[in-house]
Amino acid sequence: MSNEQQVRIYNPSEASMKNAAVSGMEAYRALCKEAEDDYEGYWARNARELLDWKVPFTQVLDESNAPFFKWFADGKLNVSYNCLDRQVNNGLGDKVAIIFEADSGEVTRVTYKDLLGRVSKFANALRAMGIKKGDRVVIYLPMSIEGIVAMQACARIGATHSIVFGGFSAQALRDRISDAGAVALITSDGQFRGGKALPLKPIADEALGMGGCECLKNVIVVKRTGADCAMEAGRDSWYHDVVASQSDVCEPEWVEAEHPLFLLYTSGSTGKPKGVQHSTGGYLLHAVLTMKYTFDIKPDDVFWCTADIGWVTGHTYITYGPLACGTTEIVFEGVPTYPDAGRFWKMIQDHKVSVFYTAPTAIRSLIKAADNNEAIHPKKYDLSSLRILGSVGEPINPAAWEWYYENVGGGRCPIVDTFWQTETGGHMITPLPGATPLIPGSCTLPFPGIQAAVVDETGTEVPWGQGGILVVKRPWPSMIRTIWGDPDRFVKSYYPADFQGKLYLAGDGAIRDKETGYFTITGRIDDVLNVSGHRMGTMEIESALVAHEKVAEAAVVGRPDDLTGEAIVAFVVLKGNRPTGEEAKAMIKELQNWVGHEIGPIAKPKDIRFGENLPKTRSGKIMRRLLRQLAKGEEITQDTSTLENPAILEQLKG
Ligand code: PRX
Repeated sequence: MSNEQQVRIYNPSEASMKNAAVSGMEAYRALCKEAEDDYEGYWARNARELLDWKVPFTQVLDESNAPFFKWFADGKLNVSYNCLDRQVNNGLGDKVAIIFEADSGEVTRVTYKDLLGRVSKFANALRAMGIKKGDRVVIYLPMSIEGIVAMQACARIGATHSIVFGGFSAQALRDRISDAGAVALITSDGQFRGGKALPLKPIADEALGMGGCECLKNVIVVKRTGADCAMEAGRDSWYHDVVASQSDVCEPEWVEAEHPLFLLYTSGSTGKPKGVQHSTGGYLLHAVLTMKYTFDIKPDDVFWCTADIGWVTGHTYITYGPLACGTTEIVFEGVPTYPDAGRFWKMIQDHKVSVFYTAPTAIRSLIKAADNNEAIHPKKYDLSSLRILGSVGEPINPAAWEWYYENVGGGRCPIVDTFWQTETGGHMITPLPGATPLIPGSCTLPFPGIQAAVVDETGTEVPWGQGGILVVKRPWPSMIRTIWGDPDRFVKSYYPADFQGKLYLAGDGAIRDKETGYFTITGRIDDVLNVSGHRMGTMEIESALVAHEKVAEAAVVGRPDDLTGEAIVAFVVLKGNRPTGEEAKAMIKELQNWVGHEIGPIAKPKDIRFGENLPKTRSGKIMRRLLRQLAKGEEITQDTSTLENPAILEQLKG
């Protein structure tokens, strides 16, 4: 970074340093030092200051059963209490918690008092169905007030929720319900996206009809689009009916800090998604601490995280972090390009958003749209309310960073490029807006208390300037606790024997700048792709492809894409002849739709190529590196002499 190219450093302005929770690098370093000198003391202090405990903890970190770490294990608390009752008790009952803007543009405001009432009613309804602490509840809902209410209601009664993104297929939903052993499903008749009403309940019915979901006793359906939907007597009930007779007071279930607040399925390097299990106390602590330090959240801020509650970003920075800080936040149902690509800018203007958090893919698509249509360029809107911008989910390329900084932030607002993962619960490496000098494309430095490092295959730290494997040296409060039902896979995936089980393996490569020590993420080092900030396993897509009756074999790789970061390329061998021309075109459509149906539209390969075989070594291993080169359209530079049939490379060139 520093040697090869001219880098511009953006120092924090006087304005962003003023009153910042962490003001200046000295303050940042002091926090890091506090954590280094007394690791447990640092986290314990924050846990005491930032959370309300029913039973205070006396233990901090328990490493006796590493890597199954425990934090604050003898303390008890409730997340919903910390998000809602605490604000009402502190006089914030009439403060707006949620400004919900629907796809149609309709706006609904919900105060903290209202939200507490709604959550309590629904929590009582769940209890009335016999749902109790430790039960798993799957939520398959669009962005909605009810989505947040449902998550908070589960937290209130100690039920462990597992959200399935509304764009996932029946098969994906079935697999998650079955793996989690869920007793209830909360869904809606449908959802609105870009002016269209799309079905949800019919997909849920299809999932439940596939078998393997016998654990599930109740389906609760939110009326959203008003579409007709079949209701199965004895199993299905309407949300509005079940809450109607319930009291708006509900005693929270006080749970141990380690109680699983939620499971969230994410892709790994095998075909089966992993149920990442998060805790209650440690998770909430990091949600609040990062709101405070990374977003420098203040009482009069209007916060907007554009993620969906189906992803971890929506959990930590929509449902839990902002509410636990008593913030007013925007919850948005639609898409950034409807009714036009000025939607985000108009919403920032209308609601006077001060902290805005989105993904590089959204920024890149809006740059393109603004280039094509002056009328929806961010400069046409009053964005003066903004003070901090954030980015998450994938690397942000310097050109997109600069555009975001100048055109959205007006050259005034620091961009926090937050690196983290489903497994980490909250930000791991990120600038702090009132402290860190920014370099576009770098997520800069670890969050205070997070001990990130770049190592080689043996776990030895590599010098700055040399690429390597990103690891975290010490357990932290919001980390993944286990993979639901598969503790061995947890250990193998995150605490591999290569590092003597001592280092958390993030799965990303990274390099630290020679002079500043700043981290730049260089991408996944496993078979995980990142398409538009959505994480997908290549094996997951391969399994979907080979489940098609005409497919004999498939290999999936990623290739860089200007808009989506990475694009999915599939190399397929059919059981019959290799198709060409129109036949190939039709087969490509068929397979794209098939993957869309098996996993969800986000997993559809952009490019599918057919061969009579795949390039393999003599021992039969698919040469993925070669496929990656083919996908990119690069000349093959590797030795191909071990290939059984080099002619297939011609077929796969695309
Ligand atoms: O590869 C990294 C990338 O997204 C992965 C985590 O994906 P997921 O669990 O879906 O969580 C996304 C939202 C937190 C990481 O392993 N990633 C995430 N944030 C960044 C990033 N890559 C570069 N820069 C980031 N800021």
